[in-house]
Formats: sequence, C-alpha cells, structure tokens
Amino acid sequence: MSGDLERIPLAKPVIGDRERELVDEVLRSGMLSLGPMVPRFERMWAERIGVRHAVAVSSGTAGLHLCLHAMGLGPGDEVITSSFSFVASANAIVFTGATPVFAEVDPLTFDMDPAAVEAAITPRTKAIMIVDIFGYPAEVPALVDIARRHGLKLVEDACQSIDGAYDGRKLGTFGHPAVYGFYANKQLTTAEGGVVLTDDDELARVLGSLRNQGRSDDGAWLVHSRLGFNYRLSDVHSAIGVAQLERLDDMLAARARVAGWYQSRMAGIDGVTPMYEGPQQRSWFVYAPRLDPDLVRDEVIGELDALGISAKPYLPCIHLQPYYQDDHGHRPGEFPVTEAISASTIALPFFPEMTEEQVDRVCAGLDAVIRGRRAGAAGAGARAGA
Ligand SMILES: Cc1ncc(COP(=O)(O)O)c(C=O)c1O
Repeated sequence: MSGDLERIPLAKPVIGDRERELVDEVLRSGMLSLGPMVPRFERMWAERIGVRHAVAVSSGTAGLHLCLHAMGLGPGDEVITSSFSFVASANAIVFTGATPVFAEVDPLTFDMDPAAVEAAITPRTKAIMIVDIFGYPAEVPALVDIARRHGLKLVEDACQSIDGAYDGRKLGTFGHPAVYGFYANKQLTTAEGGVVLTDDDELARVLGSLRNQGRSDDGAWLVHSRLGFNYRLSDVHSAIGVAQLERLDDMLAARARVAGWYQSRMAGIDGVTPMYEGPQQRSWFVYAPRLDPDLVRDEVIGELDALGISAKPYLPCIHLQPYYQDDHGHRPGEFPVTEAISASTIALPFFPEMTEEQVDRVCAGLDAVIRGRRAGAAGAGARAGA
C-alpha cells in the first residue's frame, strides 16, 4: 500500500505566471485565433532552431499529415517508418492514402536501422518518415543519404525530440521538414499543438495555406485556392507556447538532471537496463528503461501502482495495434527487435519538477518489486522441484 505517500504522476507540465500573463493578454486582446501571438511563437522557434520557417499547427499529427500531403503522397505510394513510435506517425501516412511500411529498429537507440530502411525500399516507396523516439536522434545523415540515392522524400517526426540535434546540428536543418508536438507531456507544451520546421520557402508557403483551409496565398478574404484543413494553432495555445519557449533551456536542463538521477540509480538495480546513452544528445522526453523478460511488466506496473508510483507500458508497437492488424494485415513476429523492445520498456514518472527524493522513491519501489517477484519465483521454483 502507498500509505500516506503522495502518488507520483507519470508526467506534469510546468505552468507558471508567465503562461497566465500571456494567455490573459490574448484573451483581453479579443484576437483568439489568426492574431499576432502565432507568428510571434513561430519567429521564436525559427530563430532558436536556425531555420527560415516555423509553421505552427494544431498538433504534431497535423504537422506530419500536412507535410506528407504537401509532398503529394497518395494511394499506391509507400512510406517507410518505424513501428516503435506513437500511432500518429503511421496514421499521418494512412491519412494521405499511402501505406506505411515498417522498418526494424536498432536495439540500442530504438530508432530505425538505416540498413533495414534501405532493405524495405520497393518501386512504390516515395518517402521515409524518420522518427526520433524517446528523444534520441535517429541516424539522420545516413537516412538523408539513402533518400538522396533512391530519390525519396523525407519528413522527420521529431515530436519527442524537441530541440533535438544530431552531431550538434538541430533537427529541422537537414534539408527536410521536422515536426515537433506540444501535447501536455512534452518537453514544451501548448496543451495541444505542433510546429513544422523547414528551410523550404515553397513548402512553408503551402503549409501556411493548407493549415488554414487552403486559403489563397495572398490571404484574400475567403478565397480558397486548394483543398485545405483547419489545422491552425490558436493564439491562446501560442501564448502558452511563447511563455514555455522563453524558459525551454531551464526545462530541458531540469529534465536532463532528473534523467541523470535515474540513470545512476538504475545501473544498480538488477533486472533493469537503464536508457541508452550514446554519442548523440538525447532530448529527454520520457524515462523508459527496459525490464528483463522474466519480469512480467504489466504486473510490475500493477505493484508500482499499489506503491503510489505511476508507470505505463510504453510504447506499444504500431503494427500490433488492432487497426493495423485488422486493416493492414500485420501480425506479431514481423519485427522481433521492435516487439522485444516494446514488450520490455516501462515509462516511469518523469517531469522537470520531479525531486531527487521522488526519483529515489521510484527506484526503491522498483527495486523492491523486482526483488519480491524474483524471490517469489525462486520460491515457487524450489517448491516445484521439491
Ligand atoms: C512520436 C510521436 N509522433 C507524433 C505524435 C503526435 O503528436 P500530437 O499528439 O501533438 O498530435 C506524438 C505525440 O505524442 C509522438 O510521440
């Protein structure tokens, strides 16, 4: 039982007076949408990343869909992506009529293995969607090279890698669009929202129109020159984003500090593999180490829950989601590396304001649960052998 201890949530946004002040400014202005806060938010992003354009949209999913739509993808086309991602990555491909083709991931980074991507290319392949899962940048230069050699388009789902970089070069500056998502559990939130980063003037122009019902480029009143969507980000959401962006460095540093506490403690817990630390800098989004296969993850989660510690199985494979099995014919066993990772990763409480004491409590709880389960299993084994 958790006794009097307060439950530790999985995630928690940092919302302060500055968010309230800017939201209030928008509310008082009366310009709740299509007002000046959106371009202000976009300019801040473009400057921070060093790209010519940041196009704010209503969600990360919307940003991915718009990019693929603008690339002209449609029925009969294939887009290679990762099954070890949030379902929106593949859904955005399906929205266009194209088919997602999954490529196996690397067992350390959990991102797509470039060799598997190249092997998945067929005459129907039109694009690759890179995913930087758990904030660890994918092998972007290798994937850019594959796309160039095969004449494929690229889009990057960097929804979990806000402000991420490969070899110090920010995602979004590699010649293809990168998309961030700003749902409430992300490194920066606008409650719901996203942004597309690109250096491509023409793409930015088309995205700006597509997100706003296909409005003509000269902004003429109710003239719609293409079939568009309502994927606008409102000024209210943008106001939250401006405040968050003003202190993004502090929030990212706080996440990295919490991750550091976790990493050092996890190394001492039997049955757990801490998160991978490789040559690239992870933009810390979740803390999701792997459990050894003998530990039944869902039961571990249940026992942690009883201790007041929130945890979730994260991430389920996309190809094993009911929709992708029922409508796309996918089956277990197709991607053994992805499936093994997905069956073993456990998301633990992780947010910038998490204290070292809370991290200690989570780690002690996990250690106790694992020891208890292993002792129980050993006891059962001894009884069975007696
Ligand atoms: C990898 C990835 N792609 C896409 C999305 C979709 O973003 P949104 O929820 O803003 O639509 C998410 C959101 O969690 C994500 O994690």
